[in-house]
Amino acid sequence: MNNFDFHAPTNILFGKNQINQLPNVLKQYGKTVLLTYGGGSIKRSGLYDDIYRLIGTDTKIIELGGIEPNPRLSTVIKGVDLCKENNVDVILSVGGGSTIDCSKAIAAGVFYDGNPWDFVVNDGIKLTKALPIVTILTIAATGSEMNWGSVITNEETKEKLSFHTRLVTPKVSILDPTYTFSVPTYQTMAGSADIFSHLIENYFNQTPDTMVQDGIAEGLMRTVLHYTPTALTEPTNYEARANLMWASSLALNGLTGNGKNGVWSCHPMEHELSAYYDITHGIGLAILTPRWMEHVLNDDTVERFALYGHRVFDLELNEDLYITAKEAIKQTYDTFVKWGVPMTLPEVGIDDSLLNEMAEQSVKHSNISTKAYVPLSADDVLTIYTNSLVPMTF
Ligand code: NZQ
Ligand code: ZN
Repeated sequence: MNNFDFHAPTNILFGKNQINQLPNVLKQYGKTVLLTYGGGSIKRSGLYDDIYRLIGTDTKIIELGGIEPNPRLSTVIKGVDLCKENNVDVILSVGGGSTIDCSKAIAAGVFYDGNPWDFVVNDGIKLTKALPIVTILTIAATGSEMNWGSVITNEETKEKLSFHTRLVTPKVSILDPTYTFSVPTYQTMAGSADIFSHLIENYFNQTPDTMVQDGIAEGLMRTVLHYTPTALTEPTNYEARANLMWASSLALNGLTGNGKNGVWSCHPMEHELSAYYDITHGIGLAILTPRWMEHVLNDDTVERFALYGHRVFDLELNEDLYITAKEAIKQTYDTFVKWGVPMTLPEVGIDDSLLNEMAEQSVKHSNISTKAYVPLSADDVLTIYTNSLVPMTF
């Protein structure tokens, strides 16, 4: 295990009716709030009205609604302007990863002299200050509610990049699973696939002797496999939604990734798909993950894949590890199929016309060609994309 610096300072208020603490939470940070939200789900669910009812009149609320999935640089700039014009003290971000990520970039952008895209490209290194962020999470997926990352899309250059700074880690996140009852089937599958992918990305890593991180990841993967079908068939099942919500936060708050080397594989490949085609992040990951697994299965990785099958899918460890490893990859694919995920690129509107360009970009925008679990060249990425055009056969 490598040295690491674990810092997960977000105060999580988990469970039903935790929103009642919102007035006291916000009071700590000031009287002018930028309320950020997405395309309107919080209005339909009643959460928007609850927030106004609770906050009362002694707090001034400025609104930035309409934050799009795969949040855009132009929206970040709009939010920065609103904060500066109104001397905003704190951002209240209500929604999923897109709203929270956009809010993180706004929070940092307020104190940054220049275009926010600069600090996204430079991974946050020039940042010194940010507004405090409080979140109310409405979908279990990214973990943004408890981490220091943010992913922003520059719609003009078709680039989707992440930046990281502890300055934007949410101060408080309210996690009431009942707010996720209204998440539609497609987004529920996508959210679970994203959580699962975060765990996979950390689990398949070259650093030896990380039993703690791996044991936590295996438990969280089993949780996602166990509860996603229930959340899909019974959207208002509290225990299913609660377990998925907490899994989303723990999967990407450092617990399963700290102490390990290297960079992720499927996320850099997926970010190109959603940058070019604006697809749902988790769906792109579900499509790529089993193809990536198949592509990187070799004599060096087979034991890891077999153990994954044994510990996560309860497969028997065959003497021939390839048998167990291949079955584990099949089970991963079949799981997404059973959830109902469209499992080929054409089903989400992607044909072969830009695969080459996206493969080049994914290698340019990340270190997957040098530091991934199995380093991937642009040709490797192209093969994985190409294999994603048609259903897998086993
Ligand atoms: O916009 P609204 O109307 O709220 O609808 C949203 C949106 O259409 C809907 N939704 C959310 N909660 C709902 C709901 N609909 C009904 N009821 C509810 N309770 O779901 C749709 C997707 O929302 P979005 O915020 O885009 O989803 P998600 O949380 O999956 O965020 C995806 C973004 O986060 C980035 C992704 O790349 C993508 O841009 N990521 C952020 C990470 C991070 N900050 O750590 C890590 C991830 O790997 C990921 O890259
Ligand atoms: Zn993700």
